[in-house]
Amino acid sequence: MTQSARKILVTSALPYANGSIHLGHLVEYIQTDIWVRFQKMRGVDCTYVCADDAHGTAIMLKAEQLGHSPEQQIANVKAEHEADFAAFNIAFDNYHSTHSEENRELSSMIYGRLKANGHIASKSITQAYDPEKQLFLADRYIKGTCPKCKTEDQYGDNCEKCGATYSPMDLINPKSAISGATPVAKDSEHFFFTLPEFGDFLKNWTRAGHLQDEVANKMAEWLDAGLQSWDISRDAPYFGFEIPGEPGKYFYVWLDAPIGYIASLKNLLDKTGGDWEEYWKPDSTAEVYHFIGKDIVNFHALFWPAMLHSANLRTPTKVCVHGFLTVNGTKMSKSRGTFINARTYLDHLNPEYLRYYFAAKLTCNVDDIDLNLEDFIQRVNSDLVGKVVNIASRTAKFINNAGGVLATEIADAALWQQFVDAGDSIASHYENRDYSKAMREIMALADAANEYIATQAPWKLAKEAGAEAQTQAVCTLGINMFRALLTYLKPVLPALTADAEAFLGETLSWNAPVSFRAGEQINEFKPLLTRIEKDKVDAMIDASKDALATAAAPQASATNEQASGPLADEPIAAEIDFNDFAKVDLRIALIANAEHVEGSDKLLRLTLDLGGETRNVFSGIKSAYDPKDLVGKLTVVVANLKPRKMKFGMSEGMVLAAGPGDKEIYLLEPHNGAQPGQRVM
Ligand code: MSP
Ligand code: ZN
Repeated sequence: MTQSARKILVTSALPYANGSIHLGHLVEYIQTDIWVRFQKMRGVDCTYVCADDAHGTAIMLKAEQLGHSPEQQIANVKAEHEADFAAFNIAFDNYHSTHSEENRELSSMIYGRLKANGHIASKSITQAYDPEKQLFLADRYIKGTCPKCKTEDQYGDNCEKCGATYSPMDLINPKSAISGATPVAKDSEHFFFTLPEFGDFLKNWTRAGHLQDEVANKMAEWLDAGLQSWDISRDAPYFGFEIPGEPGKYFYVWLDAPIGYIASLKNLLDKTGGDWEEYWKPDSTAEVYHFIGKDIVNFHALFWPAMLHSANLRTPTKVCVHGFLTVNGTKMSKSRGTFINARTYLDHLNPEYLRYYFAAKLTCNVDDIDLNLEDFIQRVNSDLVGKVVNIASRTAKFINNAGGVLATEIADAALWQQFVDAGDSIASHYENRDYSKAMREIMALADAANEYIATQAPWKLAKEAGAEAQTQAVCTLGINMFRALLTYLKPVLPALTADAEAFLGETLSWNAPVSFRAGEQINEFKPLLTRIEKDKVDAMIDASKDALATAAAPQASATNEQASGPLADEPIAAEIDFNDFAKVDLRIALIANAEHVEGSDKLLRLTLDLGGETRNVFSGIKSAYDPKDLVGKLTVVVANLKPRKMKFGMSEGMVLAAGPGDKEIYLLEPHNGAQPGQRVM
């Protein structure tokens, strides 16, 4: 099949409508957008659709918490998501919502087909129910004490501490995380998609070239372990689509979410006069590519193909799975300021930098990718500013000075041929989503170009009498090498390329080998990209630090007898949600008295005045503070910590401090105007 006869539908996973887009999400949208831009540049008929994933309990509860309707919630978030994506130059052909008429229609049609084919079963199941909220509770909304190791506040069906798994109702003293009520067991009828009937089909499908090998291997493990029927219904109240003919029963969000891909396409084609079945009929010659993260593979590589197969629709050509983003080698963290929202990034840095950095890191496998901030600055500055843009800034002015017309001959035909020949291999790296290989090849060419310019030294030539023609020829080759590089980088750097195109006075295309431009006029060169400044990155991290999370994180650890080691090296503890944090009552305390504790080499005994109430607190800060320096100072105390009996007496709270330990422990000292007893926000 020739390139231009290809017709491809491309999707990225539909982001949930209860939160902001962050840099982790952007790995996927940037990866997909680069692929789509590449296909379009090559003349392929490629359509990129996406949508907000608008249904489910989490979105319903989020809306409630913010005091508006779910419809208002999803409209607000959709506007925010679309603005963020646009700013990162993610060029969807259509961005829709799963809470749409198209999706309601298609979901009920597909469900109807599954049902008609005998692939929907119903049975009564027993579930935890919140009698106060009158809501069935998904596992993650139940918490209690681990039945095995007795650790408190464990969510769902497994214990973070000892790893035990159990039914959430086996938790000791289970509570609804939503209302705090004690859940009761309640029966309800549910509808199931009979996945086990698709075991053989899936064993074939997962090995038929639609998946990366590592993903196919993972699926084989699951398939060998045996499939279970998939519960596709939820009881009211639920924000979603009511199941046709089943009042009070709703489609589980993951049933209608992937159908949202088709719905977004239909919404687009209804406007442009196309037909969604052209892409989705069983014998369609179009290709369908889904880009997703590794956490949602089961939905896309098992449930979805099985559903499509039952509904007599085609299955995806490829499900392309990427890994997760880490920042500086670890999970994104709010307390460290590395959980960076798209908008926070945009407030400080140019999106092209991140697009390039992700491209330089992305491969066709499922490995996690790391955003190392030092490397990010270094790589972008060295590759984009130091290598690519530099080629134009070192040669353009000599063309501009001489009237702006390019020379007619190729000064070094062999060198130019290298640039032309590299096109095919760079293209195949893009096609295979091996962007890091493509970037490496492009930068190797940029090195060759810079070497050539350094050797020819047009700035010297320009001063030599009679060397005008040679200067022009050298710089013309320089500009052409820059053109070739920008052509190859255009899928990654659309904004930089647009500026370069204005300078070159042409649109760079790549549906044929790059051609040499000679004898034509170019425009005046203006600086195309500035270096990343470290203080911008630092400011972005600061802005991402959740003030509340920081106060509670180990870096600003509560000090007691155990807190004597190097605090900063401790791994961040398991995530807590905001409700957990809100339980911590932080107060300003006046240190009314401080004294050594007989027999302890770590502790000081503090007498704290909380504005009327006096507390006795033992604090492990002896190595850093002389007691007499503390008297009269203000600090921050966890006021509602359960009193603890220590060897030397009762400790009735904890003071907060930060630092590596030993002599460097710094008590948190609030502003002088603070009043003892005041709540710390
Ligand atoms: N709503 C579902 C997808 C439904 S598709 C029919 C969902 N939404 S999500 O907002 O949680 O994630 C959207 C995409 O972003 C997923 O493919 C997910 O894997 C990806 N990522 C979310 N966090 C990520 C990182 N930290 N790193 C890389 N990708 C990440 O899942
Ligand atoms: Zn446990």
